[in-house]
Amino acid sequence: MKAAVVTGKEIVTIEDVDVPTPKDDEVLIKIKTAGVCGSDLHLFRGTHAFRKPPAILGHEMAGDIVKVGKDVKRFKLGDRVTVEPQVGCGTCEFCKQGLTNLCVGKKVPGTPSWVGTFVEYFNAPERTLYKLDDKVSYEVGTLIEPLAVAVHALNRAGNAAEDCIVILGAGTIGLLCQVVAREAGFKTIITTDTAPFNREMSAKLGATAVLNPIDEDVVAKVKDLTGGRGADLAIVAAGADGILDQASACVRKRGEIGLVAMITHKIPFYCYSMVFNEQTMYGAMTYETRDFVKAAEMVNRGLDLSEFVTQKLPLERSQEALDVLSQKKEDVIKVVVTV
Ligand SMILES: NC(=O)c1ccc[n+]([C@@H]2O[C@H](COP(=O)([O-])OP(=O)(O)OC[C@H]3O[C@@H](n4cnc5c(N)ncnc54)[C@H](O)[C@@H]3O)[C@@H](O)[C@H]2O)c1
Ligand SMILES: [Zn+2]
Ligand SMILES: [Zn+2]
Repeated sequence: MKAAVVTGKEIVTIEDVDVPTPKDDEVLIKIKTAGVCGSDLHLFRGTHAFRKPPAILGHEMAGDIVKVGKDVKRFKLGDRVTVEPQVGCGTCEFCKQGLTNLCVGKKVPGTPSWVGTFVEYFNAPERTLYKLDDKVSYEVGTLIEPLAVAVHALNRAGNAAEDCIVILGAGTIGLLCQVVAREAGFKTIITTDTAPFNREMSAKLGATAVLNPIDEDVVAKVKDLTGGRGADLAIVAAGADGILDQASACVRKRGEIGLVAMITHKIPFYCYSMVFNEQTMYGAMTYETRDFVKAAEMVNRGLDLSEFVTQKLPLERSQEALDVLSQKKEDVIKVVVTV
């Protein structure tokens, strides 16, 4: 079968690989759509923490079940599904608490132990499968995975949903955090992005205020919209020098800062503001299964994310799909390849 493989720095090659053989507790899925994600870009650019070329792209997908292992009970041939793309070792202290995202021995797609999703056929254990409602398109089904990232980013906050959230960066993840924040009941949702198209999308999705951090005073505006108090929660969904200082300055005393952006180099942070205001900072890594369940429910209940898909390219043009997101020469939120 065809697979899109990163074979060198910013090089994607279409190669022929074996169709996986599903184990007894697995199904084989005919991939219909696969999404390009920020972590695929890290692999593509050679900045990924542990995935190095050659590696098959992708972990976001939707497709049809075409083969069912003999121990699979809840799914059948023809079911339309997406997959939670992580399988824990099942025995470590994190797996025992349901924190597969933190398991050091977890299996993820695009590694020697599991094929990536930029392929024609993908195998997955039954417990990672989520059924897509008939009304949900494959494209939107593909977005359940990044939506789960956003659900987790907000779930990690200790405070219950309160009044005001600031989301720094309105790419796929920031915009999905906006969608989750709306659902969670935040009354004031303030977003920032340097790109006009992303700001437009955020405004369309109903943000209270959408700011350009280059020429607007984000902190002053947040203070203004919160009666001088500051936001309850800031989500950092972009990597820029100074973004942590900005997040801290936007947040109230005892407020929280959630880091979802993968900033893989050192950036400066003046931490005095965090101490002085007794703020809490947390990281959010992928999702727990309960976050994935919630994301799948939101989509199956009718959350329409079709506007997020700005480019669709066939698998054979995966090089272009990665280039589009990497170079941002055109307006882009989510790039999806079709198989
Ligand atoms: N923690 C996780 O599990 C997880 C999962 C997926 C993605 N991520 C990370 O989250 C981040 C966002 O992912 P994405 O897919 O939305 O990426 P993206 O590139 O689509 O979005 C980032 C956005 O930030 C904007 N931006 C750049 N500088 C900015 C600034 N100074 N202020 C405000 N906005 C600015 C860009 O214009 C862009 O729209 C990435 O770092 C990605 O690697 C983390
Ligand atoms: Zn992803
Ligand atoms: Zn484990």
